[in-house]
Amino acid sequence: MPKLIVTLRDGEEREITGEAGLSVMEVIRDAGIDEILALCGGCCSCATCHIHVDPAFADKLSPISEDENDLLDSSSSRDEYSRLSCQVPFDASLDGLRVRIAEED
Ligand code: FES
Repeated sequence: MPKLIVTLRDGEEREITGEAGLSVMEVIRDAGIDEILALCGGCCSCATCHIHVDPAFADKLSPISEDENDLLDSSSSRDEYSRLSCQVPFDASLDGLRVRIAEED
């Protein structure tokens, strides 16, 4: 299964694997990492699944939608590598992807 490397808010790094077809949010949540609240369950309406992705993978990710972009604007920690993890499908092409969980707003 493809690998995902997650940096938690305290800087701890966890290496997890995820099934292709899940979203990055689901992969993180299924690994038992509870820093992603994902309050809306993945329907792009809460922004509590905010992550920063490794710039090296930025152009391999699915494009950002207008809704995702608008929601990210509500976060004070948004940067150019911000994504909502529920909107990023995970698959083998993202093997080794590094993401950092964003600060809580
Ligand atoms: S889980 Fe709510 S926007 Fe991603």
